[in-house]
Order: sequence, then C-alpha cells, then structure tokens
Amino acid sequence: MKLSLSIPLSSFYCFFFLLVLSVSSEERASTPPRGWNSYDSYSWIISEEEFLQNAEILSQRLHAHGYEYVVVDYLWYRRKVPGAGADSLGFDVIDEWGRMIPDPDRWPSSSGGKGFTEVANKVHSMGLKFGIHVMRGISTQAVNANSPILDTTTGSAYEESGRVWHAQDIGFKEKTCAWMQHGFMSVNTDLGAGKAFLRSLYQQYASWGVDFIKNDCVFGDDLNLNEITYISEVLKELDRPILYSLSPGTSATPDMAKAVSGLSNMYRITGDDWDVWEHVVAHFDVTRDFAAAKMIGSSGLLGTSWPDLDMLPLGYLTDPGSNEGPHRKCRLNIKEQRTQVTLWSIVKSPLMFGGDLRNIDDTTFSLITNPTLLEINSHSANNVEFPYISGSTSARARKHGRSRSYPTSVEESEVEVLGMTSCKDPKANGWLVQELDQDLERICWKENMENRHGEPFCLYKRNSSAESEQEIMYGSQYQGPLHLLASENTEFCLDASPKRKITSSEFTRGTFSDCTWNANQMWKFHGNGTLISSYSGLCAKMIKLKANDGAAGARSWIATGRSGEIFLAFFNLNSYDMKISALVSDLAKALPGRTVSSCTGNEIWSSTKIDRPTLDSISILVESHDCALYVLNCR
Ligand SMILES: *[C@@H]1O[C@H](CO)[C@@H](O)[C@H](O)[C@H]1NC(C)=O
Ligand SMILES: *[C@@H]1O[C@H](CO)[C@@H](O)[C@H](O)[C@H]1NC(C)=O
Repeated sequence: MKLSLSIPLSSFYCFFFLLVLSVSSEERASTPPRGWNSYDSYSWIISEEEFLQNAEILSQRLHAHGYEYVVVDYLWYRRKVPGAGADSLGFDVIDEWGRMIPDPDRWPSSSGGKGFTEVANKVHSMGLKFGIHVMRGISTQAVNANSPILDTTTGSAYEESGRVWHAQDIGFKEKTCAWMQHGFMSVNTDLGAGKAFLRSLYQQYASWGVDFIKNDCVFGDDLNLNEITYISEVLKELDRPILYSLSPGTSATPDMAKAVSGLSNMYRITGDDWDVWEHVVAHFDVTRDFAAAKMIGSSGLLGTSWPDLDMLPLGYLTDPGSNEGPHRKCRLNIKEQRTQVTLWSIVKSPLMFGGDLRNIDDTTFSLITNPTLLEINSHSANNVEFPYISGSTSARARKHGRSRSYPTSVEESEVEVLGMTSCKDPKANGWLVQELDQDLERICWKENMENRHGEPFCLYKRNSSAESEQEIMYGSQYQGPLHLLASENTEFCLDASPKRKITSSEFTRGTFSDCTWNANQMWKFHGNGTLISSYSGLCAKMIKLKANDGAAGARSWIATGRSGEIFLAFFNLNSYDMKISALVSDLAKALPGRTVSSCTGNEIWSSTKIDRPTLDSISILVESHDCALYVLNCR
C-alpha cells in the first residue's frame, strides 16, 4: 500500500520538478554570469569597431565555454577629444531629456538617435548578450543644462503640480559620485520627477536591446539604496530580461549585501581588481566572510544574485582610468594568475574576462577555459573556506623565498584602518565623544582609548561658526551633521568615500581633503555610539587588516560537485614555498551531512594522481603565490 502510493507520487513530483525546471530556464543568472568587459583593456576609450571585434572573438572562441555577455564599460557617451578624461566635465553627449547617448564619433551606428540599437542587434546575431555600464543618478552636464525630464507614459515633458520638471529639480548637487565628482550625482527618488527620470533611462536601455546593466557608484562606500531599489522595480516591470549588476564594492560587508542581493543579480564585494598581487590577496578574507554569511547564490532580482570579485585582468591590458587602449601584458606571473582564476571559480564569482580578446595568448585562453574550473564555477555547491589545513615550510625555504619583509610577529602584521559598514552592524557603535574643553570636542574609537600602545584614533569636530556663503546655503540642511577633522588645527575634512576606486588593502587611516559642504563629508554622531555618513547612510568603524601578505599564509576552499565529487583548493599566499595538508577525516567537517573516510583523485595543475585510496592526508608542496586544485572521489 505504502509502496504503491509512493510510485504515482514520485512521478508526480518528477513531473512537477520538470515543470519548475522549464519555468526556471527563464530565471535570471541561475549560474554566475560569464562574459567580457571592456574596462581592463580599453579604460573608457573603446570604439564600436574594437568592441564588435572583441564580441566576434568571444562568440567564436569563448561562447562555447559559457562566456555570453559583452559589456561596454564606462563613459561610452564621452567624446574622445583633447581635455576629456575619466573625471572631466563638459564632453558628454546627452539628448534633449538629459540622457546619455553614445558618442557618435566612437559609435557611428548610434547616429540619428539610434543609440546602441545596431550594436545590440549585431551582438545578438552573434548569439551573445549585450551589456552597458552606467553611473549613479544624473550627469552634472544634464543638471547644468537643466534639461526637462521625459515622462515615458506621455512621451512629453514630465508635469506635476501644474509645471514642467527639470534636471535641477531632481539632482542632489551635494551627493556627487565620490570617485567621479565632476561627472554624476544622485537623483531624488522621493520625487515623481526623480523616478520619471530613472524610468526614462532604463526604458531607453531596454528599447536599445540591452541585456545587462552594470550600475556604478551605487554600492560599497557609495551605497545608494534608494536608486538601487527604484531601478530594480523598473527592471522588474520591463518585458526584456536585464541582469542588474552593482558596483563598486569598496568596504562592502555581508550586512550591506543583504540589503541589495534581492534587488540585483550580482554585486561587487571589493574595490577594483587590477593585475597586482595584493589585490588578489585582498579577496580571500572578503570571500570567506560572504560565503560564511551564505551569500553565494542567494535569491536575487527575478532569479539569483552573486557576490562579484570583479573582472579578470589577464592577457593584454591598459591602466586604470587611462586614456589609452591595450598596450601592455598582465603583470601577474602564471602562478598568481592561476591562483586568481581558481579563487574566482571556487567562490562562484561571475567571470568577466578583461583582457583584449584580439590579442589573447594561448596560456590565458586555456586558463579562462579550463573545464574543471568552469564546472566548479557554474555547478559546485557548499562552497566555503576550509580552515582545517596545516602548512609546513623549512627555514631555508623562507630565507630563500622572495620575501621582502617577512613579519617578525603577528601583531606587527596588523594595521587598523577606517572603513564603512552598515549602521546595524553591532561593531559600528564603538565611538564616544570626549570633551577636551568648552569649545573643543573629539570623537574617538573606544577600543583604542583603552589600548596602552600609541595614540587613540580620534576625529575633531570642526568649529564652523565662521559662516561662508555655502555654509548659510547648506546650513539648515546640515543642522546636526558635522565636519570631522584629522586634528584640531587642520582644515582637512574626513571623506565618507575614497575619491578613486581602491582596494581595501590600500586604505590609509581614512581619507581627508579640503572641507566642503558636500554630503560625503558630513557626519552625524548617534547616542548609541555610531558615526553615520550623510552620503551613503553607512557607519564608520575601525577595521583590523593584515598589513603583510607574508602572514596571511596558506588558505583552502572546499566545494562539492554535481556527481558527488569534492573540490579542494590550496592557496599559498606566502612569499616562500609551503607544503599544505588536510586530513581526509577533516573534509566532512565542512560538508554537512557527509561522511568521508578515504579518497582518490587528482590535482589538476600538476596532474598528480592519488590512485590508491588515501585514509590519511592530502598533502602537496605549493610554490609561493601558487595554488593546487584537487578533484576528489571520496567514500
Ligand atoms: C544606532 O542608532 C541609529 C539611529 O537610531 C540606528 O539606525 C542604528 O541601527 C543604531 N545602531 C546600533 C549598532 O545600535
Ligand atoms: C570657535 O569659534 C568661536 C566663534 O568664532 C570662537 O569664539 C571659539 O574660540 C572657536 N573655538 C575654537 C576651538 O577655535
């Protein structure tokens, strides 16, 4: 009876499951998106011809490996003329409604108001999907021009309360993008006109045939939850499935990610990644924390959302923010490149290749198309850092390693920096106010006050009784918030956000610059000990960082495969070689519900085989900055 009932039931479930599968083939970003982005090799200066050449090569050589999106990175609307650069003002092509349109000199097919329509058509005919990068809010140029706002429901200017609304009604001049201060500012999403403007942008992108939007200067230190929330709503209502990607990720925390993951399909979790070893290292702690918080593959905008480690700057590249195209080779050595691609794969980051595809070399090609890595990237599960490893190294290896500054003690290898976090983070309430005398107060990080060594980290309230014109103008708006100085006698104010995109490893003790009445320099102190920024609504806290990669040592990640195999990666971040080991009996500790007593398998980079079942340990010498990756069959 029981048995006979279970047969139709299970076939019903089977049918139901198939039904769900066929619907979920529409699900957005069900595996980490993969493709190419123009920034690492062209900065902002790419032309239509160069872009389509890269797309063509992607479709011929990489599409079969799952690389599907081709994305134009920033400033496609900026004219490439003398004086124009990454943060210049006045060189952008905008339409009568203050919207960015492609520079017709660089994108000839856009002339006559066609935007990216023809480029998108060509990309689609190659079997690929087309993506663009856009900044927060509205351009300074549109605000200066005071363009009227388009109401897409009527096709004419947006009217409310009996008047036409313009760019100056919706742009927050004091909320310019902190790393592109002359370029863009937030819009007021509380206003119908602010919403109408954002809607007019995203509906236009959809009409061009865009499939992927990278929205920059809205996440990390630049968090702009209002815009993300509204744009996500607009994207949800469009007929066209557009993936939504958020950037940058400087200071991003799992807490912050929880606020945006459901609204997006991917979001950056670090600052920009370039071909610098310290950038690669900086991703290890962050990914560990996001995996532990169960953020890998959480539910997202009409599908799934993925923590994004940034593009892969491999092969033939340019330099950050430059006015030059591809002109140099990647500066990471092959071991460092292997480490990068292995980490990106096993944490299931989107894989967006950044090198110039017209000049891709065989080594780079085989690295980014390695079938084991791509299988892990798309289809592994239970991905977490695996802490149960040991490392051993001979004194000789250390001495003869490439170590420049091997730390003498662990304490010396830590540095404290000012970072940003969600205000709900219980560790954010570490500030207290100290009255020095009647006129002077400072705000200090409590933990350092109790510390015997060195100076406490304090910020000084600025005496702003001398009223300038700007102070009178913004004074009422900033009643309560304050300027914070590095010391009582300087006139340099603390910025909420770095002016350029930086990796956490590059932080200094906050960033200070000339005081202005701009939201990214205004702070509010709450009685519960939090210090909140008027720019992003995030709170400041002191973070301990490892100052030297020599101390970061050996790392390991584990994941399971579709056929029950176990993937185990070892990374040696040290500047000397190290033998890294894991006990077979420990593997199950990271794999809930699984028992492991013996394994066979192979290491993919050295083709080392474990033929006879090992009950004991898995152990291999990993060279400095290199990694090992095992595919294990365990019982
Ligand atoms: C501190 O107070 C602010 C303002 O009421 C609140 O938003 C924040 O969540 C609180 N944070 C902590 C850590 O208690
Ligand atoms: C702050 O400004 C007021 C008014 O200008 C002045 O009387 C006071 O001495 C100033 N305090 C400090 C610490 O500079």
